[in-house]
Amino acid sequence: GIVPVILSGGSGSRLWPLSRESLPKQFLPLTTHRTMLQETVLRASGLQPDGAAFASPIIVCNQEHRFLAAAQLSAIGIEERRILLEPVGRNSAPAICAAALLVAEEDPDRLMWMMAADALFEDTAALHQHLAPAVAAARAGRIVTFGIQATAPETGYGYIEVGAPLPGALGAHAIACFEEKPALEVAAAFVASGRHLWNSGMFLFTARSLLREMAQHAPEVLTHVTLAMERRRQDPDFIRLDTEAFTACPSLSLDHAVAERTGLGAVVPADLGWSDVGSWDALWQVAPKDEAGNVATGDALLHDANGCYVRSGEGVVTAVVGLRDVVVVATGDAVLALHRDHAQDVKRIVQRLQGMG
Ligand code: GDD
Ligand code: MG
Repeated sequence: GIVPVILSGGSGSRLWPLSRESLPKQFLPLTTHRTMLQETVLRASGLQPDGAAFASPIIVCNQEHRFLAAAQLSAIGIEERRILLEPVGRNSAPAICAAALLVAEEDPDRLMWMMAADALFEDTAALHQHLAPAVAAARAGRIVTFGIQATAPETGYGYIEVGAPLPGALGAHAIACFEEKPALEVAAAFVASGRHLWNSGMFLFTARSLLREMAQHAPEVLTHVTLAMERRRQDPDFIRLDTEAFTACPSLSLDHAVAERTGLGAVVPADLGWSDVGSWDALWQVAPKDEAGNVATGDALLHDANGCYVRSGEGVVTAVVGLRDVVVVATGDAVLALHRDHAQDVKRIVQRLQGMG
């Protein structure tokens, strides 16, 4: 079966102050009673659409979060899993590269389904239906992603220009151009063109294809991660990448390292009820709202407010009066107030806090 690989090492800094280094967003229940990691693992468990069973998943996360990850998987009945631990975060390219090396040791032609642990899908059935063309294209050596209709000039996503249909993989297209996190004007032009999709952040490929593209487009990453895998320490619960070798690896996202550079990209356009829940604005978008468009959780009091997202921590009362399109998140030791239009900029505050700490 297909091997699901869940990258669970992001910091979720745009969801500060709820998402913290010690408890990043993938380990939080943000949209349902299950955590984002649990929702993601369940999306790729049980039977594949072709009747075969999904293989047991590989989770890649920071070593600090090993018990959290293991416990969250056990809690949903997933005992058969491999957890690959990074000593430090080096972004998604090294993380998926390590998983690909692990899979390739068994069978380089196995399919891997890389999933981000930070997205919401309303339609898992549709997602599974779109696996068939993706599988066909991936077996033919392609690096396949799932493309979502771009509806707004979001600057936090990758944009995919859809190319010619791929023969032999009905529903999959070549990628004419992939651009990760474009500037606002560029993103606006892409949306207006009608030819661009958002990258969902999920990819399907064989271990062999990914490693081949890494060797070509990000050889330094491959070299360091290969060494970190050779020197790994393994016990029944965890696989630990070698600290020295992995720390020396450059930090690079798969989108920059491979998706933007490969000539073998493919995309399956798909309507999946997908939303990235990467920012407070995105969480407001997907949450059920009252008649004034507000979302309020915890001890929140709103008066004359519109389009607001208010999240109040335990034992904290948060009142919002006369505001529009504002996010207020109050935890025990930090309060964030921001306009929803600036949801991407929370990162800046987190960077400053890290500089201070
Ligand atoms: N294990 C591990 N280690 N995982 C990581 C690391 C790391 O160092 N860094 C990030 N990840 C995981 C995150 O937890 C997340 O599940 C996934 O990799 C993507 O990382 P993000 O940091 O959330 O990327 P992004 O949201 O800025 O952009 C990506 O997702 C967009 C859609 O949500 C890109 O793929 C974009 O092209 C895409 O549109
Ligand atoms: Mg993300």
